[in-house]
Amino acid sequence: MPVKQLPKYGTLSLFQASEPITEFGTPELYALIEDMRDTMIAANGIGIAAPQIGVNKRVIMLGYDHNPRYPNMKPLPFMILINPEIEILDDTQIFMWEGCLSVPGLRGKVPRYKKVKYKGWDPEGNPLEGILEDFHARVMQHEVDHINGKLYPLHIIDMHDFGFEEVVLERAIEENQMVILSK
Ligand code: NI
Repeated sequence: MPVKQLPKYGTLSLFQASEPITEFGTPELYALIEDMRDTMIAANGIGIAAPQIGVNKRVIMLGYDHNPRYPNMKPLPFMILINPEIEILDDTQIFMWEGCLSVPGLRGKVPRYKKVKYKGWDPEGNPLEGILEDFHARVMQHEVDHINGKLYPLHIIDMHDFGFEEVVLERAIEENQMVILSK
């Protein structure tokens, strides 16, 4: 399994905007996708973007059935999106705690838009689009941020809402659950 190293927060390439994919269906693209998938699964991720394995290309994937890092979230079908774009459909901002494979061992509370439309392409170059809400919209915004060189700590409003998992995880899960229930 080609599991890749995950460069950590502070690595300058994580803060760079990534390049679009111009050729679909190539062995290079499939190899990149396989590396991303294997790395995401090995790290228990619910999403990953190519820059997180050191490749500054506009490729993201997300999806999970059940994830121990986010135990209360409804499943999200697995999807791969190339050159994704998002449009905000509901600009209500919801605060929830997030983690990131590039920021291991930490969690932070950040605002995200409630509802977004995504557009992009599958690995063969077929167009994809859809609408996501709440936690699923959040994951999409988080992954699209990665290919624009932005990581969640840059969205934290109050730095008291940032901490080590062993300290804040219980509070984070509880508060996230309250957000879901209060819909
Ligand atoms: Ni991330």
